[in-house]
Amino acid sequence: MCGIVGYVGEQQALGVVVDGLRRLEYRGYDSGGVAVAADGALHTQKRSGKLANLDKALDERPLPASSAGVGHTRWATHGSPTDRNAHPHLDCRQRLAVVHNGIIENFAALRAELERSGHDLVSDTDTEVVAHLLEVEVTRGADLTRAMQAVCGRLEGAFTLVATSADDPSRVVGARRNSPLVVGLGEGENFLASDVAAFIAHTREAMELGQDQVVTITADAVEVTDFAGNPVDAARYHVDWDLSAAEKGGYDWFMRKEIYEQPRAVADTLLGRRGAEGELQLDEMRLSDEELREIDKIIVIACGTAFYAGLVAKYAIEHWTRVPCEVELASEFRYRDPILDKATLVVAISQSGETMDTLMAIRHARRQRSRVLAICNTNGSTIPRESDAVIYTHAGPEIGVASTKGFLTQVVACYLLGLYLAQVRGTKYGDEITWILDKLSQMPTEIQQVLDSMEPVHALARDLAQTQSVLFLGRHTGYPVALEGALKLKELAYIHAEGFAAGELKHGPIALVEKGVPVFVIVPPRGRDSLHDKVVSNIQEIRARGARTIVLAEEDDDVVAPYADQLVPLPKVPTLMQPLVATVPLQVFACELATARGHDVDQPRNLAKSVTVE
Ligand code: F6R
Repeated sequence: MCGIVGYVGEQQALGVVVDGLRRLEYRGYDSGGVAVAADGALHTQKRSGKLANLDKALDERPLPASSAGVGHTRWATHGSPTDRNAHPHLDCRQRLAVVHNGIIENFAALRAELERSGHDLVSDTDTEVVAHLLEVEVTRGADLTRAMQAVCGRLEGAFTLVATSADDPSRVVGARRNSPLVVGLGEGENFLASDVAAFIAHTREAMELGQDQVVTITADAVEVTDFAGNPVDAARYHVDWDLSAAEKGGYDWFMRKEIYEQPRAVADTLLGRRGAEGELQLDEMRLSDEELREIDKIIVIACGTAFYAGLVAKYAIEHWTRVPCEVELASEFRYRDPILDKATLVVAISQSGETMDTLMAIRHARRQRSRVLAICNTNGSTIPRESDAVIYTHAGPEIGVASTKGFLTQVVACYLLGLYLAQVRGTKYGDEITWILDKLSQMPTEIQQVLDSMEPVHALARDLAQTQSVLFLGRHTGYPVALEGALKLKELAYIHAEGFAAGELKHGPIALVEKGVPVFVIVPPRGRDSLHDKVVSNIQEIRARGARTIVLAEEDDDVVAPYADQLVPLPKVPTLMQPLVATVPLQVFACELATARGHDVDQPRNLAKSVTVE
């Protein structure tokens, strides 16, 4: 949440910072602001609302040329999203500007202390205390770096901070605890940002910052220390995607682009996973075979869409490995005192790698000596760094706030993990694993086939644009798909949408069915025990009560066809692969319906891409 940019170098800082904010706007869009240091003074501009408002304000009152600047796009926590509460925040003398992502938990005590000693704080934010605490240190003679080190030592909670000073325009200083901050390494220029997307147009060389570190950038140097001022070595890495991946490439929404990228994203997630003998190999897996053989329980933790990917994966992991697998919301996990030990493998799924609830859950698991494996899409992010092992999803940057390719690639990565465990533990024969991997590698083609036949789903979304409520039913792996379909619709179209396990229908939810209510039903492939027929019976039951049935079923399923008001045909794939094709029409439906209602699909109200506060 909140996007932060800092820059020092040869280019005009304002342009670089605003351009960076534009690429980070998915992180928060309640307000935006910038500050540049020039002519011995700080110059700021900030506006509530989307960045377009800040752009307009900058057109009306341009800021002077400068080689250093900071910027912020906000997802409000403390203080409503007004111009006054927008970042940057300044000290009493207006010589220091600070932007912040996170929550400073002890801000009330710090604010009271500052006010007692005569500081005048003008906003309702927790952030502003930092500007004044820096002022205290600087007026005692510290430079901005030392001041930041001293101030961070006093803060509780989660924070990324980036500050600039009118008195030293040659440097910008950042700090992080439990919130993301990466360094972009350029030629004659350096960058700080919440996410590499902010500087990918300028450099693909980056540096990870660890927990509780302070970084100082100048045009030619980067120095990293801990909060006590001791120098630390920071790891450098090369970003394996480029500017085109962070742009819309002709699509109107990032989300639509990301939906259509899914065949490529799934293919890339599967790429390079097979050894010379056709066996599965996971290069990033830092756990030994012996450690994997010791595991007697798997707990998947995640939030939102990633949690639903975990629910899908449970079916495959238990089936292939015969190891019990629980799936739990990260936000609930550590508060129920879960039973964990060395033999528990905790799998943390996170597209961003920065979700605070998931991060806190893995820390709890590691304290209990459990092994933690991250499934993540973001190189250099905190969750994989703090895990014992990682499988990267290689989906490329996901910028639309609603996760799409993130979900599909998370399912695929979980399947790779399940197969790898089965291979190491010998619960599947090699040829069975090869058969499943072959099926998985056909999935990009199957997903493409679904994408190529979406026109009727577009028409349906337009037709249902004014509907007030939509239900989703599924069974087995279709159940989490139903939950995901409902979540997509809620977050994008702002209408009531609920997913249910089809078998639960008669235990309550059927009371919601009345004449005309659209109900999506994900029908299991035929031959899947008797589940197919049971779901067909459910369809008849809701139809008898007036529901408008929209049925996702195998393309040649003539048993269910008579009961479908609208049939969305799916390619014939194995049961465990069905979520990879069945989710796609639900994503498309939500995207189209929200568009038809005139909503901003990429930036739905009240949401932000990575939830870096609890
Ligand atoms: C929904 C969505 C969220 C995220 C959730 C976890 O479309 O995007 O529910 O899935 O906030 O985010 P990550 O995967 O970054 O941990």
